[in-house]
Amino acid sequence: PYAITSACIRCKYMDCVEVCPVDCFYEGENMLVIHPDECIDCGVCEPECPAEAIVADSADGAEQWLALNARLAPLWPNITHKSEPPADADDWKGIPDKIDLLSE
Ligand code: SF4
Ligand code: F3S
Repeated sequence: PYAITSACIRCKYMDCVEVCPVDCFYEGENMLVIHPDECIDCGVCEPECPAEAIVADSADGAEQWLALNARLAPLWPNITHKSEPPADADDWKGIPDKIDLLSE
C-alpha cells in the first residue's frame, strides 16, 4: 500500500482524496492517513499531493509511515471529498520533521 508521511501535517491539501478509486483516506485534525488494508496500490494519489507527502511501500524509510497509517486509519473517520485546506497550508509545505506537530 501507499502511505502518508509527516509532510502532510498542517498542509492537508486533500487533493489525494479526490482521486482515490476506493476512498481509503482517513482524516485527523491536521493530517490524513491511508488505510493499508483498503489501498489497492494504484498510485494515482502520489503525484497529486502538492506537499509530496505520499510514498509507496518500496520507498526508503516507508516502514515508519506504513506503521503510523495502519495505527491511525482505524481510529479516524473516512474522508471522501476535499474541503478547504488550512489557511496557512503553504507555510508548512516542505518544512521537515513535522511529526511532533501531529494532532491525534
Ligand atoms: Fe487510493 Fe490508489 Fe492512493 Fe491507494 S494508491 S490511497 S488506492 S489513490
Ligand atoms: Fe496530505 Fe497531500 Fe493529501 S498534504 S491531505 S497527502 S494531498
